[in-house]
Amino acid sequence: MIKISPSILSSDFSALGRDVCQCVAGGAEYLHIDVMDGVFVPNISIGGAVQKSIRKYKGIVFDTHLMIIDPIRYVEDFYKAGSDIITIHLESCENVGETLDKIRSFGIKAGLSIKPKTPVDSILPYVGKFDMLLIMSVEPGFGGQAFIESSLDKIREARKLLPDLDIEVDGGISKNNIKEVVDAGANVIVAGSAVFKGDIVTSIKELREAAEN
Ligand code: DX5
Ligand code: ZN
Repeated sequence: MIKISPSILSSDFSALGRDVCQCVAGGAEYLHIDVMDGVFVPNISIGGAVQKSIRKYKGIVFDTHLMIIDPIRYVEDFYKAGSDIITIHLESCENVGETLDKIRSFGIKAGLSIKPKTPVDSILPYVGKFDMLLIMSVEPGFGGQAFIESSLDKIREARKLLPDLDIEVDGGISKNNIKEVVDAGANVIVAGSAVFKGDIVTSIKELREAAEN
């Protein structure tokens, strides 16, 4: 059973609460919250205050993706702002293990993410310290980019290494390629433009149908 995690980066920020309600109504299991600092990635997005303001919408897991330098500085803030999962980037700090431990110390799940050019085996030293591996299938920073095809091999490799772990994939996923991504071994699927460009409830349903058929 896959989990769909709509990325609010592509939502209508002027009506964010409405869009989040639509994700819940559409049966999305997770809500993907992209946090960017303008340093680790070239873009700036949203922070803990915005996340906190939408935490009043229940029945959806808050899946926070930190694309920021030295994320340990903000782990507690995002925990307090309602994250159920906090994912950090392997490339974003020297103290990856310590940061993952800190996330788990709050009783929430820790995720570890790798950019498209980072090899899958670079996560090996941290196995046992994280609950979800996030494989970026675009260069992090912006929604609406094309899926990098070589990500499929990385997903297969990761699934072999980590048969029981959640494997999330993020970037360029639509109803046209979601099945390939799931067949390769991913079980948590992020989708930004594919969910928010059209009707949210319908788009989530179509993604799920495409993944399962
Ligand atoms: C990119 C973000 C993604 C992005 C996905 O850095 O991490 O979550 O919003 O958007 P789409 O699905 O449009 O590629
Ligand atoms: Zn993301």
